[in-house]
Amino acid sequence: MTTFALTVDVWRQPSPDEPGDFVAYDVPDASPEMTVLELIDRINEQLAATGADPIAYDDGCREGVCGKCGVTVDGVAHGPERNAASCMQHLGAYRDGDRVRIEPLRAASFPVKQDLSVDKKALRRVAKEAKFPVAMKALNTAGCISCGACVASCPNGSGQLFVGTLLKELPPLARDDDERRERSAKVLAASEDEFGPCSLLGDCVEVCPAGLPVENLSAVARENLRNRFPRRTQDTPTGR
Ligand code: SF4
Ligand code: FES
Repeated sequence: MTTFALTVDVWRQPSPDEPGDFVAYDVPDASPEMTVLELIDRINEQLAATGADPIAYDDGCREGVCGKCGVTVDGVAHGPERNAASCMQHLGAYRDGDRVRIEPLRAASFPVKQDLSVDKKALRRVAKEAKFPVAMKALNTAGCISCGACVASCPNGSGQLFVGTLLKELPPLARDDDERRERSAKVLAASEDEFGPCSLLGDCVEVCPAGLPVENLSAVARENLRNRFPRRTQDTPTGR
């Protein structure tokens, strides 16, 4: 197996209230098959051998389905490979002697808990406005894993791909138009509280592990319009 040496700059921050900074770690035996999480594990093995504190991060399924693991690699949410969660990002693009920079997902709505671990409760707060089981059904139908990379990739910290995906799938799950309007209005209000505005830059679709399309962004405007002008927009042939 080909191995190569990397210097990995990792964000270390002991707690939410303390400042953080990058710390450099040398990994002499990285490989193209290694994932970003396995690279962090390798550093943690080295730290354990010296009795130092391990790097905290959010581990999960390691199969790209639970949405927990996201970190920022060389400035890109999840990492440089398009549409892949951090646990599915491999080191094939790196060469002997390269530097890799790993930091938490960066968004005002995702405060750092420790090192690479962030608090993504903002996503849950928005989703719960659609009623939790309904929101989970909607997100699962679309394939959204609630990873938050769309928010972290956006210069505005917008959650529009997540929110638009949720709103796109909600109508068939509502009993009637009143319920649809009530749920979507609450989701939209919570989303405005938690996230920044969308400028249609599209960075979110580049990083979304579910490969959700840019068209999903338009569901936010559609539900806003439906709620503001119910008579004009209710009678669409599909009801959506
Ligand atoms: S829309 Fe994509 S990037 Fe955003 S939370 Fe869902 S899966 Fe993650
Ligand atoms: S650990 Fe579950 S998506 Fe990466």
